[in-house]
Formats: sequence, C-alpha cells, structure tokens
Amino acid sequence: MAQHHQKVVLIGDGAVGSSYAFALMHQGLAEELVIVDVDKERTVGDALDLEDASAWTYNKLVKSGDYSDAKDADLVVITAGAPQKPGETRLDLVDKNLKIMQSIITPLMESGFDGIIVVAANPVDILTTAAQRFSGLPKNRVFGSGTSLDTARLRVKLGQKFGVSPESVNAYILGEHGDSEFANFDEATIGGRPLKDWAADQNISDDDLEDILYGTAHKAYEIINRKGATFYGIGTSLARITRAIFRDEKVVLPVGAHLDGQYGLNDIYIGTPAVIGADGVESVIETTLSEAELERFHASAKTLKEVSDGGFA
Ligand code: 2OP
Repeated sequence: MAQHHQKVVLIGDGAVGSSYAFALMHQGLAEELVIVDVDKERTVGDALDLEDASAWTYNKLVKSGDYSDAKDADLVVITAGAPQKPGETRLDLVDKNLKIMQSIITPLMESGFDGIIVVAANPVDILTTAAQRFSGLPKNRVFGSGTSLDTARLRVKLGQKFGVSPESVNAYILGEHGDSEFANFDEATIGGRPLKDWAADQNISDDDLEDILYGTAHKAYEIINRKGATFYGIGTSLARITRAIFRDEKVVLPVGAHLDGQYGLNDIYIGTPAVIGADGVESVIETTLSEAELERFHASAKTLKEVSDGGFA
C-alpha cells in the first residue's frame, strides 16, 4: 500500500476523536483526514486548528466533511457515542450508543465505503459487533480498539514495577474492554523470562499481580473521576492501530477481534492479540492460557453476550 493515497474518515469529534486526529498528524500517518460529527461547526474548527499543525507535520490535508467523503476512504474510525459519566460503566452506555452506531453505519455504507472500520466507542466490543452486522463488511475488516488501551496500561504498570520499559513487557489484557477483563500473567514474559519468575525474585505475590490487574481495569474510572473523560491513551492506541494497517506491519496487537472458535468462543468480538496489517485483522492469535485464565475469558465473554443479546433483541 506504500504508494496508495491513505485516507481516514474520523466519525466523532469529541475528546477521543480529536486526540486521535492529533496523534495521527504527529505521526504522519494519513495523507488525508476527514472529520465528521453531528456538531459540524466543531469539525470545521478542529480542521482549521489541525491545519495549523499540518505546517509542521507530514499530513497533506485535513478537513471537515460528511459521510460521502467515506466513499474512497481506506479507514473509518468511529469514536462517536455518549461517553461514560462518573459512576457509569461502559456497559451502561449500550442502548444509547447502539442507536448512534446504527445512525452512523447507514449513511456510511450508502456512501459506497468499502474499507476498514475501527470502532472505539463504548461498550466497544458490543458496538464493534453492531458495526459489523449493520455494515455487512467482512469480519476481518471491522474490529475494535478492544484491550489495546488496557494492555498499554498493564505494560506501563508492570514496567514501573519491574524497572523495565513497557515495550519489553510481553503481557496482554484479554476479554471485555471493561470490568471483566483479565491478564495472561501465567504466560507473560519480560525479555523472554516468565513474568512469574521476575515476580518471585522480587517477592511479588499473585495477590499483588491481581492488584495490578485491578488497577489496570479501573484506571479509566480513576481518570474519569478526576477529569471527566479519557482520551490521550485511546487516541494513541488508535494511532498505533492505524500505523499497523497503513504500513501493513503485520504486528501483533491486542484488539477487539472476531472469534470464530478460538479459545472455544464463537461469534463474538472481544479483546485478544491479533496480527494487524493492510487487511485489518489478518489472523487472531490464540495465545496459550492457563485453565484459570481460560475460565475468566469465558466468563468475560458471557458478560458481553448477555448484554449484546439484550441489545440486539
Ligand atoms: C477507557 O478505558 C473509558 O474506555 C475508556 O479509557
């Protein structure tokens, strides 16, 4: 895809959308960025503001637009939706945001769009399922930000704990992007050495690791309670996913991918490591999990199924 004109349409120009746009520009990832939102004036303002940034970055064009701009887009990133308020869970948003998703996908598909959709609006796993069903696009070309942000949070915490860079931590958060997620501590490694060995050396118990998981899964609440929303973390995770697609990196990233038998789970979008490249999710990695972790995975999937069966009924 190197010579191809790479075009992103961003749907949703709230704090998450504009943080993503800003990250995209700074990383020189798209040649064209079109911003769509029900608040048209805001997109015009954001495009003008980002245009100023474009003098110092590589992006050629950023503009406010509408769904017809998606006709020849390679990637549509959906951040639109009601955000969590303090005290709300992601799953509390499902009814409101399913309606918004439907109102997005209909005009999007009417434009003739035939690229990749990445969903970040919450509850992300359920809204990704909705986006795929409503659009009818192939399952590899519709996926969610899933546990990418949670995995980033986990790696930062583990990196701090063990005094290594988060990049050297090979650990994943899997499952729902939400309260039922879990970490693969039993198989995780740092520099090829089992995380559990590092933990034993430093007298870090399984309970301590569970505390790290708890802190990871609840970090969004910590941020929302203080500043009302989270946006830089997710904006940067979305930029990382965009880079993997546009550069056809085939890098393994944790995302919300469609499972078709992996981990004994079927017909569900949920957080798992997957190979990300020009075709979107090129394959799902069925990473080895201990029995206890597999049980948590199934419990997390059940939580999502219960909500999505209700939501789509
Ligand atoms: C986050 O985890 C709220 O889903 C958002 O930051």
